[in-house]
Amino acid sequence: MYRARVVGCGAALPARRVTNAELAETIDTSEEWITQRSGIRERRIAGEGEKTSDLAIAAAQAALSRAGISGSDLDLIVLATTTPDQTFPATAVRVQAALGMTKGAAFDVQAVCSGFVYALSVADSMIRTGQMQTALVIGAETFTRLLDWTDRSTCVLFGDGAGAVVLQAVQVERGAGGRGILSTHLHSDGRYQDKLYTDGGPSSTGSVGQVRMDGREVFKHAVANLAAAAAEALAANGLSPAEIDWVVPHQANRRIIEEVGRQLDLPKEKIVLTLDRHGNTSAASIPLALAEAVSDGRIKQGDLVLLDAMGGGLTWGSALIRW
Ligand code: ACO
Repeated sequence: MYRARVVGCGAALPARRVTNAELAETIDTSEEWITQRSGIRERRIAGEGEKTSDLAIAAAQAALSRAGISGSDLDLIVLATTTPDQTFPATAVRVQAALGMTKGAAFDVQAVCSGFVYALSVADSMIRTGQMQTALVIGAETFTRLLDWTDRSTCVLFGDGAGAVVLQAVQVERGAGGRGILSTHLHSDGRYQDKLYTDGGPSSTGSVGQVRMDGREVFKHAVANLAAAAAEALAANGLSPAEIDWVVPHQANRRIIEEVGRQLDLPKEKIVLTLDRHGNTSAASIPLALAEAVSDGRIKQGDLVLLDAMGGGLTWGSALIRW
């Protein structure tokens, strides 16, 4: 029986840092409103010509270096993004070429802010069945390209970035504990597709469109779905919240994250937060936060780490990892 173990993490952020105060110079908002209502203080915004693949490649190279392997050792890339460089080919194949990987498969998945957990679940499943041995899973976005800068209820919330993890197949005894991805759970409910969407696309308007969101509705669903996904992961593994060492949630709003933590009785100290500095980077938010907590030594070997995601679709899901 195979299991996927995380052997390296990496992250990449655009150089340009934009504070709330800077946004308030051109948008009808205030530093205080953004900080108090969302927890965001600043975000990174991709420079002119800086593409999702540029960020993805930088994050991937960092993850490969930590794993001590090169691109030619990979047999799978799954890249989660809502902001591909082009409508096709997949951004994953651009990353594949840049990394010097000429075998295996590379493709994108689209589940908006849940994208990284979806991508991780796909790669984990392929490793578990023995189809793939060494996989790179990336969440990468230039989400600010989709923003309507005249809509203050959305444009202040998002940022750009990328995070990546390298997974390696390890053989384990059936039913054994041990390290690696213990479970993933994915959900979607298309009845809520109109709560968060872009008002365009290749087959409807021919342009990419801009983000539209019913913030209050998304907020309610986010709290309920993130709490349910976390509870489902714990129940499936026979664990209690107290046994979790770290929760790495999708970084959309500090109030959402705090409410989920309260419902699950998780102390704030166990929740990894990068929202204040990154904003909501959609599919990149979880791997960016994960890479930070691993590189600063918070997440250590043997820790139980819960990834908890929610995004447009609506989509949501979890991954439970013994680090
Ligand atoms: N600056 C100042 N005032 C603002 C701003 C702004 N940037 N945006 C909205 N307001 C005003 C509104 O106009 C409203 O004014 P009114 O009462 O005079 O009408 C007031 O602030 C309150 O607006 P609400 O929308 O009720 O504010 P709320 O407390 O709900 O916070 C927010 C809004 C931050 C968007 C919140 O609803 C939220 O975070 N929702 C979830 C969003 C989310 O998680 N999205 C991502 C999901 S993941 C993905 O897939 C991309």
